[in-house]
Amino acid sequence: MTDTRAILIERHGEPGVLVERDIQLRDPAPDEVELRVHAVGVNFADLLMRAGLYDTVPPRPYSPGFEVAGEITRLGSQVTEWQPGDRAVALLRHGGYAHDVLVPSIQLFHYPETLTPAEAAAVPVVFLTAWVCLFDSGNARRGETALVLGAGGGVGTAAVQLAVQHGLRVIGTAGSERKRSYVVDDLGAEACFDSRHNWEPEVLRLVGARGIDIALDSVGGRATAACRRLLAPLGRLVFYGFSEAMPRSKRSWLRAARAWLRMPLIHPLSLVQQNIGVFGVHLLHLQAKEVAVLKSTLDEIYRCVTRGELHSVVDRVFPLDRQGAIEAHRYIHARKNLGKVVLADTSGLPKAR
Ligand SMILES: NC(=O)c1ccc[n+]([C@@H]2O[C@H](COP(=O)([O-])OP(=O)(O)OC[C@H]3O[C@@H](n4cnc5c(N)ncnc54)[C@H](OP(=O)(O)O)[C@@H]3O)[C@@H](O)[C@H]2O)c1
Repeated sequence: MTDTRAILIERHGEPGVLVERDIQLRDPAPDEVELRVHAVGVNFADLLMRAGLYDTVPPRPYSPGFEVAGEITRLGSQVTEWQPGDRAVALLRHGGYAHDVLVPSIQLFHYPETLTPAEAAAVPVVFLTAWVCLFDSGNARRGETALVLGAGGGVGTAAVQLAVQHGLRVIGTAGSERKRSYVVDDLGAEACFDSRHNWEPEVLRLVGARGIDIALDSVGGRATAACRRLLAPLGRLVFYGFSEAMPRSKRSWLRAARAWLRMPLIHPLSLVQQNIGVFGVHLLHLQAKEVAVLKSTLDEIYRCVTRGELHSVVDRVFPLDRQGAIEAHRYIHARKNLGKVVLADTSGLPKAR
């Protein structure tokens, strides 16, 4: 048994409902390792979990947190490919907001020496999601045009980088001038429009009547309808998030229902008439079935990070404690984050750039 501390969701509500408790970890099972957590990536889904709007969760109390970077402290009896002291990143179903976690060794990955734990923990979920949306579902090809909603967020900054790296023409939307200029000047998108206004005519003006080849939609509601209207023949809409269902830091069934009602209902025959495709992506469900595929993709992503072709965009690092988690959730609710928000102990802090 190991005594540790975790930040837990005991009841749903605003960020202040998060609590910090002493917990005990059992000994690692034969195929598991125990990992001392140095940094945890915070994802929008963690906020949905806390508010009670996420679909795949264990019984409360539980800790959110899909991705951690740290150091292996103990090994299960059948684990041969890792040693105590090894640095590793782990993909979890939940439980990462803790100082120690148990992880099946199949969910562990090496990360480049050049990255701090905070930078390493900021990579897996957003880059894997962006990769699956663009290349596995969206079949993105060089020369095509991609529209990335929420381009200044975690998945958004990853998707823009990947699309530019693979020779696509990229258009984004984002809610502040700071994000829009970063997406264009630093990440290489051709344009980035204001997500708080009606960006559909602006996109159309830029790309012309033919429209766009791929839309990555994490917003839902009216944005999904706009993405669909903008698709060129043989275009693909990849729907992977429903941010509009939670415009505030507290769950509101009324607001969620309104966003739901604004979603277009898509009949297969209408796809035939328009020659378009609609895909859905849920990384957590994919992880349960396709962890080997995700592993090779993540290894490739970290190789690109090592070569400087892709960057871990960490905006803010908050302490790995209750107050840090509350502040981190508030920061993301306020839509201030440019890229990722991370919780870290002092060893996870990024090096000065
Ligand atoms: N399906 C999957 O496997 C998967 C995996 C990861 C993430 N996701 C989803 O992808 C989305 C982005 O995740 P993330 O972790 O990258 O989050 P993030 O860093 O917070 O980025 C999300 C972006 O969405 C916009 N946004 C936030 N709240 C919104 C609201 N209420 N209405 C409309 N837009 C809003 C914000 O952009 P602006 O304010 O700049 O417009 C923000 O930058 C979330 O919906 C998340 O649930 C899905």
